[in-house]
Amino acid sequence: MNNISCITMIGSGYVGLVSGVCFAELGFKVICVDKDLAKIQAIQAGKIPIYEPGLSELVQKNLALGRLLFSTHLESVVQQSELIFIAVGTPTHPKTGEADLSFVESVAFELAPLLNLHKTIIVKSTVPVGTGQRIKNILKKLNPKSKFSMVSNPEFLREGSAVFDFMNPDRIIVGTETVTARQMMDQLYQPLAVKGSPIVHSNIETAELIKYTANCFLATRIAFVNEIASLCEKLSADVENVMLGVGLDKRIGSGYLKAGPGFGGSCFPKDTQALRYVAEQSGAPLQILDSVILANEFRKKHMIQKIIEACNGTVKGKTLAILGLAFKANTDDVRDSAAITIITGLQEKGAKIKVFDPEAMEKAENLLSNVYFAKDVYDAISGAESVVIVTEWEIFAQLDFNRVKRIMKNSDEHSEPLLIDLRNLYSTSFVTKAGFRYSSVGRPIAYPLPQTEKRVEEVADELH
Ligand code: UGA
Repeated sequence: MNNISCITMIGSGYVGLVSGVCFAELGFKVICVDKDLAKIQAIQAGKIPIYEPGLSELVQKNLALGRLLFSTHLESVVQQSELIFIAVGTPTHPKTGEADLSFVESVAFELAPLLNLHKTIIVKSTVPVGTGQRIKNILKKLNPKSKFSMVSNPEFLREGSAVFDFMNPDRIIVGTETVTARQMMDQLYQPLAVKGSPIVHSNIETAELIKYTANCFLATRIAFVNEIASLCEKLSADVENVMLGVGLDKRIGSGYLKAGPGFGGSCFPKDTQALRYVAEQSGAPLQILDSVILANEFRKKHMIQKIIEACNGTVKGKTLAILGLAFKANTDDVRDSAAITIITGLQEKGAKIKVFDPEAMEKAENLLSNVYFAKDVYDAISGAESVVIVTEWEIFAQLDFNRVKRIMKNSDEHSEPLLIDLRNLYSTSFVTKAGFRYSSVGRPIAYPLPQTEKRVEEVADELH
């Protein structure tokens, strides 16, 4: 029997909005609550504040079906719901690196007087271990008669594939203290469990730590791969093949082994800092994580140096086309994006920058100055002496090289056009065959060869 007549989702940011919409898609009535009236009105009018493939369609559909509602009035919404999700932001504290819980706590202050009938309160925000107990204490202190069960149910969706990830989770983590809460959560996730997603039950603290450990483990893999990529460049090895060979080991697996300009976004940088802080405070410092954070900061700065070296030692007065601003493809998010660090660093060295990103230009505008925001990818490249791919958008993997060559500025007519690819979107042989000098990550810099000569990988490409 389904005892869930309504779900409240507090916070309509990335996690809150996607989760709320997806629960509605699964057939539940969901009311998303946010303090930001303008944001809610915009969503209701079909203007989704984030670029997330497939989300807008689901919002429209579930609004029309009446299963998805929005409100700014927490009290009336809580009264109707058995399940109350907290999905507000937990940004990094600028001084300590710890997760700032002020938004989570202010939700607890507002909820406390509303808990006279039993509710299940579920934390979906990424919060440090102990936050569930902290919220419980606040609620009990402010309203000793309050009736509720506390649950931790972290989310693992990725920006850019958020709807798919929510609907097809590798696992569902549920940290509870009571049998009733556990049963409610099993009921809630039944539609996903029947499709094969396992539910992992634990206590609240364990669930909270699973989320941080997963993100920090993935960040560690990437930082390690990026360091191996730098080593490959010194040793004439190819990081793509190294990681192919490594990832085929079933104990390691092939995910998150892609070298790039350093991880960014709203999660890995924030969560590595937050876990490091918690570990230090708990007397069990995570030295590996300290190195991951440092290595990733170094990586982004090292990319500036790499670009300068590829540009024959200087970018002063040169125009560079930067392709990509988002921290990864299929999102408009520029938080902690390597592109921002790289652009600013190159400007400091005297470069003139033209940029194009299919979705993230608006969000980057406040973070950059003296940059030409191009109309399209070829407008960015036109007149540039070098092209730098920073984000792995599909359109950047389909450049018309003849056109690129024609519209680029050739500062030295004896030197070939330069493509710097920080995402390894192309094979070396393909780019050099098109007449470009090619600097990618974790592979030796490559020069165009006369048509008669063939590299080993070129022959391999032809055989495929
Ligand atoms: C990450 C996690 O993957 C999600 O499971 C989690 O729910 C989310 O954080 C969160 O805590 O909310 P997300 O930040 O959207 O998701 O991005 P990812 O796709 O994981 O990528 C993170 C960064 O790592 C990006 O900068 C990406 O370019 C980089 N990356 C990823 C690599 O450089 N190499 C890889 O092989 C994979």
